[in-house]
Amino acid sequence: MSWEMVDEGWGRRAVDWATLSEPGNAREYSFVHQHLNISSGDRLLDVACGSGFALELAAIRGAVCSGIDASHRLVAVAQDRSPDAALRVGDMEALPWADESFDIVTSFRGIWGTTSKAVEEAHRVLRPGGRLALTCWGNVGKSPGAWMMSPFQWATKERVQHQAEMVSLGRPGVGEAFLASQGFDVAERVEVPFCFEYADPKIFARGLAASGPAYEAIQSIGEHEFVRRAEGLAEEHVRNGLPLRGSIQLFGYFATKS
Ligand SMILES: C[S@@+](CC[C@H](N)C(=O)[O-])C[C@H]1O[C@@H](n2cnc3c(N)ncnc32)[C@H](O)[C@@H]1O
Repeated sequence: MSWEMVDEGWGRRAVDWATLSEPGNAREYSFVHQHLNISSGDRLLDVACGSGFALELAAIRGAVCSGIDASHRLVAVAQDRSPDAALRVGDMEALPWADESFDIVTSFRGIWGTTSKAVEEAHRVLRPGGRLALTCWGNVGKSPGAWMMSPFQWATKERVQHQAEMVSLGRPGVGEAFLASQGFDVAERVEVPFCFEYADPKIFARGLAASGPAYEAIQSIGEHEFVRRAEGLAEEHVRNGLPLRGSIQLFGYFATKS
């Protein structure tokens, strides 16, 4: 799929994504920013920045922020949130920045095993000694919150297979080898806190339906059916007086450009 098609799925419910789903990622963002020890004046690029909540948080730490995403509707939200950030709609495999422009490149579940050119590009735009942090899913199926991602499997077999290939980076040794092959110094793999949290089954279904992989399922079974099934699934996990919540295993790789 060409990057120009990405907005069709990721951008169609950009506001729902930005307000119902993305805020839950704050645990992940804040852990990674802390681990990188982002400080005032760091030139930071977030690759596949989505609606830009991570960038907003990096700016609070004093970073000078840039970002890129293929979805123009998500970038519109990000730019509204961070008017001073240098944001671009474009392809992470062809970054529109000069060599050695950044001190830090982050990507939160944005760079996959299938996107090696994006890591090559991240390496190019980092200054020597610059740092890369990227996160990717670990063993989703064995995670307590696995049920919350199971609706993605309502897509066609081919799309589900593709989703599985995309998450290969989280397997032991794979991410380290991948980053080393792209010229990065020893990557450290750490477990990163991540959980989905939604108020109730309706909000869960609406928030999830706003994501790209959900769109693949929606293309297969239709939006009405997707929402009906997702609400039904979530009903089984309602807890009295508490939000719907499920943690998912997520890994972070930290690497340096020598
Ligand atoms: C799993 S989301 C992660 C978004 C964001 N990092 C976050 O934490 O919410 C994947 C993102 O990758 C973007 N994307 C997919 N393919 C892309 C490409 N070739 N170039 C740039 N962005 C892309 C999508 O638009 C989407 O925002």
